[in-house]
This record gives sequence, structure tokens and C-alpha cells, in this order.
Amino acid sequence: MTKRLFIKTYGCQMNVYDSERMADILAPLGYAETASPDDADMVILNTCHIREKAAEKVFSELGRIRKLKERRKADGNDMVIGVAGCVAQAEGDEIARRAPYVDIVFGPQSYQHLPEMVARAARANGQTVLETDFDVEDKFDKLPETSAKNGPTAFLTIQEGCDKFCAFCVVPYTRGAEFSRPAADILAEARRLMANGAVEITLLGQNVNAWHGAAPDGGAEWALGRLIRELAEIDRLARIRYTTSHPLEMTADLIAAHAEVPTLMPYLHLPVQSGADRILHAMNRRHDRDTYFRIVDKLRDARPDIALSSDFIVGFPGETDRDFADTLNLVTRVTYAQAYSFKYSPRPGTPAAVETVQVDEAVKDERLQSLQALINAQQAAFNADMSGRTMPVLLERPGRHAGQLIGRSPYMQAVHLLAPESLRNQIADVTIEQGGANSLSGRLAREDDMPGKPDTGTDEVHAA
Ligand code: SAH
Ligand code: SF4
Ligand code: F3S
Repeated sequence: MTKRLFIKTYGCQMNVYDSERMADILAPLGYAETASPDDADMVILNTCHIREKAAEKVFSELGRIRKLKERRKADGNDMVIGVAGCVAQAEGDEIARRAPYVDIVFGPQSYQHLPEMVARAARANGQTVLETDFDVEDKFDKLPETSAKNGPTAFLTIQEGCDKFCAFCVVPYTRGAEFSRPAADILAEARRLMANGAVEITLLGQNVNAWHGAAPDGGAEWALGRLIRELAEIDRLARIRYTTSHPLEMTADLIAAHAEVPTLMPYLHLPVQSGADRILHAMNRRHDRDTYFRIVDKLRDARPDIALSSDFIVGFPGETDRDFADTLNLVTRVTYAQAYSFKYSPRPGTPAAVETVQVDEAVKDERLQSLQALINAQQAAFNADMSGRTMPVLLERPGRHAGQLIGRSPYMQAVHLLAPESLRNQIADVTIEQGGANSLSGRLAREDDMPGKPDTGTDEVHAA
């Protein structure tokens, strides 16, 4: 009998990838994914620990799931509750203590053991089963081959963990040391994804451009630029992206790949966090603002139409008005297609959390607002600038209105247009008519892509 599995994913795209793999691992046990936790046989929360709110959300969601579990118990059924991901890794004991009704708690590098954990939980008499080992090599070796049809765009984790230890960040602790998968495994997985319907692949890693994997032929290790060039040879692979990059790992070879590989999309998420040298240093980012500017210039030389995005933290301990002004100034100089900004959130176990000069919440709020206003204005201008251009759009999913599809531009913008269902999962040329604050709208550039248009081809026999 099929059992219903509900997975809720928080945090970054690596968690999205991991959640998909968890579903793959549980499929042979009879679990199939369902869209709601209400009558699920198993609920997994795949969690994120990056900011304080992220972890708190997990505990409040667990409270709701507990009620569902009790309701099911009253009806003579059960529900296995699992907590996965970075909160599980960092606060596994705390979860078992605060939420003892949770059956299994497991970190990002141990979910390959899910079937054993589920079996152990069944014998554990309500005791929470906890597994937070770092066994990343084993994890990738044990992942089953996915057979599920994916959409036109797929994630592929090539690198895990982080050795950078930025002073604010929990990732090196929750995900462990940097690990790169061998090139042969990645190429094989990419080919499988293509066979299952993908035409776009986003290579994932906490430090994806630090990837350096064993070469398939046993020769010298490859770096990311080489991997991208090899991936570009795969049939049907029309779009390659990678995220998230660290500025220090933007090598000349990787930048050159942006000039050479047409399927490498002209869009790069390159977080800088702050525009002030003092703060960059205190954050242990290991580069200054000038270095960042130089990298951006080189990228734009290599690929003039490249668009950039970034992450920013405001209110890092010790950040002054002047430092913050440097951040605004950096944003103005670089000009982003979009960017994320966050108020600094002290994380347990990280060096910055114990700094004595923490910035006032009210000041953080103010800075966040002015930074976001600037970023939003840049995004709106970038989008407005698309108007009148014709660009390839990957049509991914139906829109809200009948006959509408939503796709992605090369620059990751959502594009709304009228298009036949037959074009779904395909790349079509779209002429952009309007660029709004968060998305674009347009029309198919070739009228004969639209059904119901007069056919002017040679097999037109009943001309009026
Ligand atoms: N590996 C990526 C991103 C990791 S986390 C990188 O190196 O850029 C994603 C983003 O969350 C970070 O870029 C940072 O902007 C933000 N972030 C991380 N820790 C944070 C904290 N303690 N408070 C606020 N934002 C944080
Ligand atoms: Fe965190 Fe820095 Fe590593 Fe990114 S590079 S994951 S921000 S420690
Ligand atoms: Fe969050 Fe872990 Fe990703 S902390 S951002 S889910 S690596």
C-alpha cells in the first residue's frame, strides 16, 4: 500500500535538492509524496538554521504537526515525524527535548540512512532517533538513482560544506567541511536528469565555485570551469547555472567559461555581504571591496550582458553609519539585477555572536529599509530595461490565467505570457512588453508558436 509522505523544505536550494533525494530514498519503502501534511503517514521538515527566525519557525510548525499526529492517532493511524537539515544538525538534542513527539532527527549528511532510521524509530518506543554524523562521501555514494520525471529545470549538488568560516555563519558547522563530488558522478547524474526531462541544470554548493573534483580519467583534478565546459557538451542541456559562489573562488578560468560557454547563463549570484573594508575584514570574508569590484569588472569584460545578484547583511557587530554608507555605495557602483538583504542575526557558536558591540535592532531596521529601497529600485530599472527585447524563455509552469505560462528569462526573471501548453518545458523566444517590479510579461516572438493563427504553410489546402 502506498504511504503518504509530506516534506516541507526551508532554507537554501541545497535543502531542496536534499528533500528530493529523501523522497527518492523513501520511494522503495512505499512512500509517495503528497501536497499536505494533514493525512500524511510521514512528515519531514527539512530545516534551515541560517537566521534565528528560521529555527523558530521550525518549532512553531512542529507544534502544528503534533496536533495532526494526535488526530491521526485518535483514528488508529500513526504519523512518523522527522526533522532534517541544518537545525537538526545544530540542535538535534534540543529538538528531542523540546519536541519529544518527533520520531527521527537527522542532519544533512546522514539522510542516506533514512530507511534504517525509520525502522529504528518503529522499535524505539517513542524515543527520538538521532543521527547527525558527517558522512558526506557515503551520502552521495548511497543516493539512489532518481527515476522521477523532473520539470525542465533541475538542481544538482556538486559540492557540500564550507571551510570559509565567515564570522556570522553557521553553515561550516551544520554542513561540515568542504567536499567535492567526483566529476564522473556529476556528469552521470546530469545525463540522467536530461533523460528525465530537464533542459536546465543548476549546480549547487555552499561554495560551489570551490568545487575541485576527481577527473573521470584519473588525471589531474578538475575545477568548476572545466566541469561546466564538459557539461555543455551534453545533448539537450540548454542552460547551465551555478550557485552560491564565493568571490575569492572566481578564478580566471571560471570567468573565461562565461565568455566561452553560450549555455552558461549570463547571471551570477555573487554575495559580497558588505561594502565596507572594515566589516568585510571583521566578517572574515578574506577580500576587500576593491577585489570584488575587480572581479565584477572581469566578469563583465568576459560576458558583457551578465547580470549580478548578491546577499547583504546589515548591522553586523560594529557596523557604523559610515560602513553602511559604503555598502550603499558598493551597490550603486555594481548595480544588481536583484539582491537579498538580511539583518544580522547572532547565531550560537559563531564568533560574531559574542562580539560586544552589537548593533541596535532599530538601526538594523532602518538600514535594511534603505538598502532594500535601493536594491528594489535597481531591480525595477533592470526589469524595465527588458521591455522591447526578445529573449529565450524557459516555459516552466502554468500561470494563474487560462492559456498562460510562466517561464524564466536568462536572468532568472519570471516571465508571464500567453502560450500553448505544448510549449511547456521548452525554450521559446519571447518579446518582453513590460518589466514590472518583480516579473516581466511578454508575447511569443514567433506568431506561429501560437495555436489558432492562420497557417501559411504549404499544406494549406482550403484557402478562403
Ligand atoms: N554560501 C553562501 C551563502 C550562505 S547563507 C555564501 O557564502 O555566500 C545565505 C546568506 O545568508 C548569506 O549570504 C548571508 O547573507 C546570510 N546570512 C548568513 N548568516 C547570517 C546571519 N547570521 N545573519 C544574517 N544573515 C546571514
Ligand atoms: Fe557561510 Fe561564509 Fe561559508 Fe558562505 S562562505 S557558507 S557565508 S561561512
Ligand atoms: Fe540554511 Fe543549511 Fe542552507 S542553514 S541556508 S539550509 S545550508
